[in-house]
Amino acid sequence: MSTSWVNPLRDPRDKRLPRIAGPCGLVIFGVTGDLSRKKLMPAIYDLSNRGLLPPGFALVGFARRDWADEDFMKVVKDAVREHARTPFREAVWKQLAEGLRFVQGSFDDDAAFDQLADTLKQLDDQRGTGGNHAFYLSIPPAAFPTVTRQLSRSGLASADGERWRRVVIEKPFGHDLDSARELNAVVNDVFPEESVFRIDHYLGKETVQNVLALRFANTFFEPIWNANYVDHVQITMAEDIGLGGRAGYYDGIGAARDVIQNHLLQLLALTAMEEPVSFSPADLRAEKAKVLASTKPIEPLDETTARGQYVGGWQGGQQVPGLLEEGGFSPESTTETFAAITLGVHNRRWAGVPFYLRTGKRLGRRVTEIAVVFKRAPHLPFDDTATEELGQNALVIRVQPDEGITMRFGSKIPGTSMEIRDVNMDFSYGHAFTEASPEAYERLILDVLLGEPSLFPVNEEVELSWKILDPVLDFWAEQGKPDPYEPGAWGPDSAEAMLARTGRTWRRP
Ligand code: BG6
Repeated sequence: MSTSWVNPLRDPRDKRLPRIAGPCGLVIFGVTGDLSRKKLMPAIYDLSNRGLLPPGFALVGFARRDWADEDFMKVVKDAVREHARTPFREAVWKQLAEGLRFVQGSFDDDAAFDQLADTLKQLDDQRGTGGNHAFYLSIPPAAFPTVTRQLSRSGLASADGERWRRVVIEKPFGHDLDSARELNAVVNDVFPEESVFRIDHYLGKETVQNVLALRFANTFFEPIWNANYVDHVQITMAEDIGLGGRAGYYDGIGAARDVIQNHLLQLLALTAMEEPVSFSPADLRAEKAKVLASTKPIEPLDETTARGQYVGGWQGGQQVPGLLEEGGFSPESTTETFAAITLGVHNRRWAGVPFYLRTGKRLGRRVTEIAVVFKRAPHLPFDDTATEELGQNALVIRVQPDEGITMRFGSKIPGTSMEIRDVNMDFSYGHAFTEASPEAYERLILDVLLGEPSLFPVNEEVELSWKILDPVLDFWAEQGKPDPYEPGAWGPDSAEAMLARTGRTWRRP
């Protein structure tokens, strides 16, 4: 039977057509940093290679180094060759390189910003960038006030008529609720909220966007996506790398501020939110904000949270230093490299369902997943021995690597007796689709240039996330040292104990 129902909320444009950015230029502050080299420059090349940037696109680097345009070009080229996802093509590079410029200066140097304004004006004339400029602040937040003030002073922050100006900021968006508010005020003083694009690169990942497709495009998940059927949810972001070379950013910040406040709470929001009225940015944000506002840590925090710090030891056949021996970390550092917390989402759908979030460095392997673990069947009409090996049903969204979804359920072991054990049914991106997923930064940079804000958390979400985390951070601040754990383990013993108290165990992905 066919149906002629028409969705009244649908946008008349065909969203399957590739979206190509209009005339514009992108300025990167902090262009000599790691993020710029490993992620931003390669993503810009990849977008260009995919034909998603306009022919006259311009990229301007701003930094203190004494570089000419040619030096900058070489740095970009090396970064692209080393880190781009798509193959290097001379013709694409040549076109991109024609729009590369470098402006030398420090953030408090008025003349350098005037020079930047001149450079952008010239690019408007020569390359047709149309006065549309995005400013990417890949710099420590302490420098935001100076840079935004300079952009304002030199007239670069003001949009007029059709010409847009946008600012892109990277976390950390503060280190608690109060500082986040101050930071937002500084940025909003110069750029109106609709021109601020806060990067949470997890939202740029295909598998993360797929959470909404999975939940809201299908029939059979949603009816069981609630406290009647779900026992608990585990959200894990594990990394096997240590923190060598990152002390400047990480010491005093720690795992919870680094990734729970942003990536993991965004994953929770997408997993737990209600169906949005539409996929418009405003409707999506409204649902995310609602679910974050209903989320709080479950107490008592000494039983429902755990934090750890890796010690030196052996991992993957190599001897690795502990955090306190990594260069730049204070030997007294109480910075956690592992964090686990228990959250409750206080609404009708999720009442009584704990959400366990954990993250850590130097863990067993690199994996990010969302596991929705279901209650046991209310009755099992089998001999006890038949179900000894039956676990709980689970739906696991494999965010990375090995992107896909696993359903775990019990199945009879072939043979003459009734014996049931867990099996997995897998969907994997590699098998289902021929096209490789773009890098998160490709999608997000393109969205900035298109002025498409859906995948960027707004002020309100950032502040709500700090509200959730602040009580845990305050509690930990009084606890002294985090618990030690061996490299390659899955966190400290206290993390195991935290779940064991409730009769549950962490998954070993
Ligand atoms: C960043 C964190 O946001 O995400 C890093 O600051 C972390 O500490 C990184 O290593 C992980 O990103 P991905 O995409 O490799 O999971």
